[in-house]
Amino acid sequence: MIYTLGPPTTLTCESTDRFPCQIRTLNVARTTVTVTGGGADNTTIHQNMSKIRVCVRFRPLNSTEKKQFDGKLCVKELDDESFLFNAEREENVAFCFDKVFYQNSKQHDVYEFLAKPMVHDVLDLMNSTIITYGQTGAGKTYTMEGPDISNCEESNKGLIPRVIEELFRSIECSNERNLYTIKLSMVEIYMEKIRDLFDITKDNIQIKESKMHGVFLSGVTEVSIMDKKQALSFLERGISNRTVGATQMNMSSSRSHCLYIFSVQKESRKDKRSKTGKLILVDLAGSEKVEKTGAEGKVFEEAKTINKSLSALGNVINALTTGKSNHIPYRDSKLTRVLQDSLGGFSHCALLCCCSASFINTSESLSTLRFGIRSKFIKMPVNVSQVIDEEKPSHSTSVITDKEMFQRKNRSHVKILEKLKENWSMEDSKLLEELLISEGILFGPDTCEEKQSACDDIVNRTISSLHQAIKDREDDLNKLRFVNNILKVELAKVRELNLAKDRELFANRHFRKIINGFSLIFHFPFTFLRMTTD
Ligand SMILES: Nc1ncnc2c1ncn2[C@@H]1O[C@H](COP(=O)(O)OP(=O)(O)OP(=O)(O)O)[C@@H](O)[C@H]1O
Ligand SMILES: [Mg+2]
Repeated sequence: MIYTLGPPTTLTCESTDRFPCQIRTLNVARTTVTVTGGGADNTTIHQNMSKIRVCVRFRPLNSTEKKQFDGKLCVKELDDESFLFNAEREENVAFCFDKVFYQNSKQHDVYEFLAKPMVHDVLDLMNSTIITYGQTGAGKTYTMEGPDISNCEESNKGLIPRVIEELFRSIECSNERNLYTIKLSMVEIYMEKIRDLFDITKDNIQIKESKMHGVFLSGVTEVSIMDKKQALSFLERGISNRTVGATQMNMSSSRSHCLYIFSVQKESRKDKRSKTGKLILVDLAGSEKVEKTGAEGKVFEEAKTINKSLSALGNVINALTTGKSNHIPYRDSKLTRVLQDSLGGFSHCALLCCCSASFINTSESLSTLRFGIRSKFIKMPVNVSQVIDEEKPSHSTSVITDKEMFQRKNRSHVKILEKLKENWSMEDSKLLEELLISEGILFGPDTCEEKQSACDDIVNRTISSLHQAIKDREDDLNKLRFVNNILKVELAKVRELNLAKDRELFANRHFRKIINGFSLIFHFPFTFLRMTTD
């Protein structure tokens, strides 16, 4: 049985000592895959233009894992994007991601690949999100913060302190035309409540949505940070307010989802216009098999809520990946509602699936990896403008017309429902109404408002990104003009030099001719003179 990953990698799988059974499944989200199975059938999966960058990190085995199963691993490295996974009773699975960080990977490697590009995106005012996902104790918090946010060895520093350094470094190196302000917020979602970690009296922050700002946290504390030291001291305070507890897997387990929100405001010194980009780092609470860990009491309740919100996240990702439904269940949990713009909006998003490579955590790691693979296939959601595009006449370009058409369509659905209600019982018609709303066929008055506001939002954001693009092109043009002028001067110099050289060559040749003439007349070689002229 041969499995071929489309160019440039060719992968031929034979039985190995560690992975004795044959490999059956290929989960590939990167490129064209041809699976040839025993000559029976050929399957081709075409490349998916995913907008989420999905990576995997395996942390080193801990002391317990080293003792169990003789430290046996469930992962066999193939290259820095793919590996074989020994899935217990199932046959082996080959996985492929945007990047795989194995046990010996460094914090620096993860930062360079995953976070650094996002820092530059946010400075260019593009909203970006990085999410760490995985089983409890799999290394999510370690990746984000490091062993200690402000007091650890340079090489162990997590993504957050590195992001802060890069933000300030880039701003220092940027041109003088813009003024930057960085603000920081820190919240946790604990037992379905959003708590402000910079002001613990705000323990039930509400999520709101506006045309200009999209989904935002109403009244959350935003601190201005002037330098790295100040930022780290705020973060230290926030982290100390976060809810942690001990689980079987992790002595210091995060019992909440934590969001570190960096807002970068860029103000033009010239026209005083300002725009903001956001970078959100999300350290999720870990999924946990309560029947396996034997969690009880408070830990059990926490685990239930954590698992519920993580499965809501899974449902949102499923809905986004199928691309069929125009109803994405963002409102099923606080986590998905807060991440609405990150997952389904116009922002960059990266997911880091954290796993243990130990054989004892095979089933948890496998479900984390499957979650990662599904996320790879997130498509742009069918948003209002796209839904309407399918029906609007091709000559129509107006967004207002889109909105009107959307309302008209909804009104006709309401009319049909009203007609049905005349002959149906109250209960049946209510059921149908709920069904239509949940399927996204009908929209309640609030949803209509939301869709309109989303529509306006899309237009506003598109206009502002076009403005920015024009400005960037102008900058590029000015730079090119400058370079062009320098090149012109250089070219003139080179021409002058060439001219001087030509003149010298001409003089040399002329001199040589005279010498030759003398040689012929006086029957004397004059070679010593000729030598000097060469
Ligand atoms: N790459 C790594 N190198 C060294 N130690 C690590 C690494 N990743 C995790 N650890 C260690 O593993 C333990 C668990 O890590 P961490 O707290 O980050 O897990 P988590 O995924 O955040 O778990 P939870 O969901 O319970 O919060 C910690 O002691 C941490 O120091
Ligand atoms: Mg954690």
